Amino acid sequence: MSLLSDTTLPATPAAIPTPAQPPDKAPVPDHLQLVVVGHVDHGKSTLIGRLLFDTHSVPDGKAERIEAACKAEGMEFEYAFLMDALLEEQAQNITMDTTRVPFSTERRSFTIIDAPGHKEFLKNMITGAASADAAVLLVDAFEGLREQSRRHCFLLSLLGLRQIVVAVNKMDLVGYKPEVFEAIRTELSAFLAKLGVEPAHFVPISAKHGEGLLKHSDKMPWYRGPTLVESLEKFRATPPASGGPLRLSVQDVYRFDARRIIAGLVESGSVSVGDQIEFVPGGKRSRVKGIETWPQTNPPPRGPVGAGSEVAITLEDELFVERGQIGAPPSDKPYEARTFTARVFWIHDTPLRSGELIPLKLGTQQAEARVLGIQRTLDAITLESGTGTTGEVKVHEVAEIRLRVRKPIAFDVGGKVPALGRFVLMRGRRIGGGGVIDSVVDEPTVTSGINPVSRSAILGHRGCIVWMTGLSGSGKSTLAQALEQRLLSSGILSAILDGDVLRTGLSRNLGFTPDDRSENLRRATELAIHLADAGVVVLAALISPFRADRALAAERAKERGVPFAEVFINAPLAECERRDPKQLYKRARAGQIPQFTGIDSPYEAPLAPDLEIRTDRQSVAESVEALTEMALGLARPSEQTGSGSHI
Ligand code: ADX
Repeated sequence: MSLLSDTTLPATPAAIPTPAQPPDKAPVPDHLQLVVVGHVDHGKSTLIGRLLFDTHSVPDGKAERIEAACKAEGMEFEYAFLMDALLEEQAQNITMDTTRVPFSTERRSFTIIDAPGHKEFLKNMITGAASADAAVLLVDAFEGLREQSRRHCFLLSLLGLRQIVVAVNKMDLVGYKPEVFEAIRTELSAFLAKLGVEPAHFVPISAKHGEGLLKHSDKMPWYRGPTLVESLEKFRATPPASGGPLRLSVQDVYRFDARRIIAGLVESGSVSVGDQIEFVPGGKRSRVKGIETWPQTNPPPRGPVGAGSEVAITLEDELFVERGQIGAPPSDKPYEARTFTARVFWIHDTPLRSGELIPLKLGTQQAEARVLGIQRTLDAITLESGTGTTGEVKVHEVAEIRLRVRKPIAFDVGGKVPALGRFVLMRGRRIGGGGVIDSVVDEPTVTSGINPVSRSAILGHRGCIVWMTGLSGSGKSTLAQALEQRLLSSGILSAILDGDVLRTGLSRNLGFTPDDRSENLRRATELAIHLADAGVVVLAALISPFRADRALAAERAKERGVPFAEVFINAPLAECERRDPKQLYKRARAGQIPQFTGIDSPYEAPLAPDLEIRTDRQSVAESVEALTEMALGLARPSEQTGSGSHI
């Protein structure tokens, strides 16, 4: 079942699940799963058709019928038709977006996993529907390397496919000249080397004329390497995932008679009656009582049921298990965590932005993920990398990003169980991009003997963040200063983080683009958390015009256990402009300050602030009163009764 089953398949009917797959459907150990990738016009269908035909893997009569049809049209036999005809046959029972075409030589059997187009290819690679062992990268000798070929190379490397043979096709169109082949080999080798990919072979072929596929071509006596099929026969089949630890991806839980039946897919390892299983996330454990089949068999199977099979099991204990959980041996289970780093490949026109919240799907698990940071982006076509931190990943870019999901999910890293390390990010109903998890991020905890509790015992209050957002000139700095005085006189240690001050030091290398503002606020947030951790009541006075940035600050504080309140320092733009204490609006109107908030850069007002101060209507004294009450509520929660009268 593909990762995308939720969006591409109808919901599973509430009936007894499919029985465990009969063993004869499982691939034989030395069977090789192949993916053929390349630019759409570079002859993929012809190559596949020809491979099937020359290895006598075409169903009886099919080739003859096509030959007759071609003759009738006065055309040459078209191998691509063969492929199309086979696909049509499969069309009725396609349950995935890929088609699987088997063929075999004397030495080996193969399955070609085919995906029709570029996006589908990506989707399938990422989702694991195409769990290929090896890839044929097809390049047109006549046209040379195209953007799409480069992208495909990139994806192959991203997905960790290391067994690659490059087939330089249509050699007939270039007179079988070695120079053309060599030029492509040199260019592509250099490109692939940058990706850390070294193809096993470069093979010159003409799929249309069957040159270089099974037999050495006498048209290209200069080529001394293996034929395409020879090179494929030498590839290793990936060891069956059955060797790994059990990962049972729960798809549904049914009630049947008095039994609770858990149906899922064995992504790796195997499951047998008597096995101890823990369900992650959650950590509930039980033992496998039975394996269900429909119709029931006598005696019922006891397993092992291996990787790639659907299975339905009952447990010894009545556990509440749900779709999305992963069954695993307690001694070797997946991570259960919220934060991780990943490489993503972005395919949507609207960029993926730092700070945004986006739905993530990993197997049957779904969660909202926050993009915490984008470390490095790389253009999949030029391989040019943007350096340092950046605010977004654009279409066709690859980036290393850090994600945090709202609730813990189960996953594996570093290719341990590939199916549990890949995910997709959704943009609306479409796929925005795919990714591979690289590492889990442990959120560091305070290691010194002193903890926030003992600090607050010394100080008589705890640290917190009062985040004041508003337009320039709305009164943030004025109120922050007055509030600081007021808190100090109540024995509360506070400190102001002011945008103007930060920007002369910590953020002096940043400007006012949305990305720079995000980065400025990220720094301010981290600093505020450190200070609050040390017991300080932090008064952040920052325009912070974007909701996403403020949400990120709040979320980060929450994670670190720091109380946080958002205060909207609100005054209408016209009023701020009238005040114009720093004459900035005037200069912005004169076009001297680009991207000035409120003028030519937006301000997104808080939708549900913890407190709103209307500085055009309330006096400073009144405002400080309200602010003090709020700050005390955070800093001395036990004393705060709501009246503020204890001060
Ligand atoms: S934020 O958008 O990143 O939160 P921040 O609060 O740090 O902004 O800085 C705002 C201060 O920078 C303003 O008070 C103003 O003095 C100055 N400034 C200079 N250029 C701009 C601009 N284009 N937009 C807003 N403020 C600016």
